[in-house]
Amino acid sequence: MARKRDLHTLLDEEIFQLLEKHKQELGDQKSVIEKALVEYDRRKHGHRLVIGDFVAVIKRKETGVAALDRALEGGIPEGFLVVVTGPPGCGKTTLAMQFLQAGVAKKERGICFSAEETAEQLARHCLSFGWDLKHEVENERLDLIGFSRLPIDEMQNLILRYGAKRVVFDSINLFHTPQELRASDSWRSLLKVLKENGVTTLLITEKPSSQEGASDPMDFMGDGILQMGTVETRDEVLRYLQVRKMRATKHSMRRFQVEVGKQGLQMLGPLVAER
Ligand SMILES: Nc1ncnc2c1ncn2[C@@H]1O[C@H](COP(=O)(O)OP(=O)(O)OP(=O)(O)O)[C@@H](O)[C@H]1O
Ligand SMILES: [Mg+2]
Repeated sequence: MARKRDLHTLLDEEIFQLLEKHKQELGDQKSVIEKALVEYDRRKHGHRLVIGDFVAVIKRKETGVAALDRALEGGIPEGFLVVVTGPPGCGKTTLAMQFLQAGVAKKERGICFSAEETAEQLARHCLSFGWDLKHEVENERLDLIGFSRLPIDEMQNLILRYGAKRVVFDSINLFHTPQELRASDSWRSLLKVLKENGVTTLLITEKPSSQEGASDPMDFMGDGILQMGTVETRDEVLRYLQVRKMRATKHSMRRFQVEVGKQGLQMLGPLVAER
């Protein structure tokens, strides 16, 4: 009773309307009051609460690279668009296909739009790691669009129709500049659709070796950046991966050595040259 009297004296007309509404819908007074207070707060401090909710319910998608998942508090946050960038041959496509494979293992459909390889080439590339993409395509768990020059709105339709939860664009800057993408309504619409449907996306971009480690305009397009590259020691060339940015995630900025081997990409400890 005391709580009821307090509410009468402290709260305004608006909350009593909300209370009435919820009372009719739910009946139980305790839960009505709780819900009304939450909604009242949400109206007054909506922005802050939305961010709070987002962090609280964050789901992560495993990349398929165990040590990378550990470095990302379990994986890439669901619905993120992550730029995977680096010079030729550093392992970008391998990482991306491993990410799609990890999705298939969790019954999440994936699509790869490859601008530089045919679907057959890509499937052959992956078979060398023991991933049978042909089988996954036949069973409608994966779709591969080779030598893709599809307009953005067609890619969007395909993603929606297929119900993809993981998408890879390899490499986007072969046929779009960041300026074009940013100014494009269809690109913005695609981003919105990806977010609304909780699709986690890897956007592969190419970076000349001379610009490795430096930001370029493509890097500003993602919620995260996975920078890949190579370093030359006295007698070998080592591959590395660095999480340059991952929103909503506490991560190291160290460069970790990676190896491409029989089972795909594996992340090892900190780069030897930097230990
Ligand atoms: N089956 C395999 N076993 C071991 N290493 C492999 C295998 N397949 C590829 N590699 C290594 O991975 C490299 C290519 O990796 P990947 O195609 O993922 O790189 P990328 O960054 O996508 O390159 P690009 O920018 O040219 O597309 C090869 O040059 C080779 O060194
Ligand atoms: Mg590639």
